[in-house]
Amino acid sequence: MPNEPTPNVRTSDVAIIGAGVIGLAIAWRLAARGASVQVFDRGAAGGGASHAAAGMLAACAEAEPGEEALVALGRESQARWPAFAAELLEVSGVDVELRTEGTLVVALTADDQARLNHQLVFQQKLGLPLQWISAAETRRREPHLAGKLAGAVLSPEDTQVDNRKLARALRLAAETAGASVSEYRAVSTISSRAGRVDGLVLAEGAKVSADVVVLAAGAWSRRIAGLRPELLPPVRPIKGQMLALRMDPAAPLLTHVVWAPAAYLVPRRDGRLLVGATVEEKGYDTSLTAGGMLTLLEAAWRAVPAVEELPIDEMWVGHRPGSRDDAPILGAGPIDGLIYATGHYRNGILLTPITADAIARLVLDGVSEAAIRPFGIERFGSLPAAAE
Ligand code: FAD
Ligand code: GLY
Repeated sequence: MPNEPTPNVRTSDVAIIGAGVIGLAIAWRLAARGASVQVFDRGAAGGGASHAAAGMLAACAEAEPGEEALVALGRESQARWPAFAAELLEVSGVDVELRTEGTLVVALTADDQARLNHQLVFQQKLGLPLQWISAAETRRREPHLAGKLAGAVLSPEDTQVDNRKLARALRLAAETAGASVSEYRAVSTISSRAGRVDGLVLAEGAKVSADVVVLAAGAWSRRIAGLRPELLPPVRPIKGQMLALRMDPAAPLLTHVVWAPAAYLVPRRDGRLLVGATVEEKGYDTSLTAGGMLTLLEAAWRAVPAVEELPIDEMWVGHRPGSRDDAPILGAGPIDGLIYATGHYRNGILLTPITADAIARLVLDGVSEAAIRPFGIERFGSLPAAAE
């Protein structure tokens, strides 16, 4: 295949596949340091999982045994969020609404309480700032919770941002820094020669030359041609159905993020109350189902009975990029110039700052930050040293 870029596509140092929060944040960080960056998306920028998410920054409350390295990565990213949001506001003018109320993981029954306390022992051993609070203290914080309440785990550092505003802010920041973001231009192929990438081929047929290609195509990251199967990241779509109810923004039913048995509730400043989410192995299916909505609404109603009166604002489906071990795939692989930044599964919003910073550092300085080293693609098995 000829290597010449078509005249309408400029040569770039870095080409990024995917304009979700991950691709856009990497583009911003790279362009701000002077790299020439082009981002390509097959649809609208920020229209994938980044649009569907709830925006929770849940590094603590969701920590499970076996995920110690992932928890450390999440905590590192969580610590970067305040500065990241402030910098984004400064360069883009968009406030991503990083909130400070924290998260309550609510126990409605004694069974819920026993399960949460079992998990809490493990989480506190990791040094996570979580504490059990009584039913009275839980209700003081959230008066609209159900009458029957056993208490809650309070996670003050698990906060939230508005992920849709985040995608908008990142796009503006990336473009302001000089990156170009091309929408509705799908990448069909990663082009490489003699074990090194030399660019991309777009579905429309144009060739884009690049020294570095960043694969950030979320749940679609295996659908790009040009790589041998063993070099494709082991990422699959994990379907999530979600809905938003509309509260009175002047008198919201909740202010904390609330995890109830079988659903979470995320109150936004504009009065939307997100209720999510299902976790389904249904491929790229985009259908909303009665069962999915029923489960979420029933769980929300059991935790906060007053949701019954709220109008439904929106219902949607998204596809999380789930890797084989639920952790992201970050860093270089066996092909020179190819960088993986995918597989963020349920935590891509949380992990945006650390991913962007670490990938920019890797591309521009050749340094692999300690926090991302456990997350290379090589952990899934031996890979050949080079590929054509
Ligand atoms: P995406 O946002 O999916 O972006 C990938 C982009 O690649 C898409 O825009 C797509 O169009 C593009 N693309 C695909 N193929 C091609 C191609 N061939 N050429 C060009 N472009 C291509 N995370 C949290 O941290 N907190 C949460 O509360 C949270 N809640 C969630 C709730 C739901 C229901 C879902 C679905 C996800 C949730 N997540 C959450 C996970 C989070 O949304 C993802 O981990 C994150 O958005 C991944 O970002 P991304 O940029 O990798 O993927
Ligand atoms: N992190 C929330 C979700 O993936 O549903």
